[in-house]
Amino acid sequence: ARLVVLVSGSGTNLQALLDAVAERGESYGARVVAVGADRTSAAGLERAERAGIPTFVCRVKDHATREEWDRALAEATAAYEPDLVVSAGFMKVVGKEFLARFGGRFINTHPALLPSFPGAHGVRDALAYGAKVTGCTVHFVDDGVDTGPVIAQRAVEVLEEDHTDEGAALHERIKEVERGLLVDVVGRLARDGYSIEGRKVRLGHE
Ligand code: GRF
Repeated sequence: ARLVVLVSGSGTNLQALLDAVAERGESYGARVVAVGADRTSAAGLERAERAGIPTFVCRVKDHATREEWDRALAEATAAYEPDLVVSAGFMKVVGKEFLARFGGRFINTHPALLPSFPGAHGVRDALAYGAKVTGCTVHFVDDGVDTGPVIAQRAVEVLEEDHTDEGAALHERIKEVERGLLVDVVGRLARDGYSIEGRKVRLGHE
């Protein structure tokens, strides 16, 4: 399967996918064909370049409207003919055009156990709520914010000392688990196929 990965930040989830492809080769079932970002500063772009993978940047501010940005992002992504698009710390909500083209094959990783704590501050919000367990979710993207069908989740315990650094250490522990989950899910989707019936995601053909 051909993957296009979208990033905004450090790109450690992207790196985990790149490492899985490098270590497992064809048997992984997927490879990253391009990496896109919504900002030039995304360190994930350098990770892609180091791996010899083409990159593109599509910034909202370079487009007259959000719709035009969305169309440009969809076109840049489509140019690489992906089977799956992965939002790995991509901090933008895509629009109608992008979803029309990639809905049902566009997945996102979120640092909380959805439907709890959606949005840009999933770790901080879980901590502020006083949750004792949080974690990460890989899900298909629909037209809401972190609302699409869940593919897989893993739990991470919240420790007493997590309340002393605004969630930085907790986020790091979540990200360790999240990277493994994302690599696992992408490989399974690519190798086994899948179907989505309503909110239920089924892995495998059948
Ligand atoms: C991940 O926790 C992702 O779920 C969140 O931002 C983080 C991105 O990390 N939205 P990285 O850029 O992959 O290192």
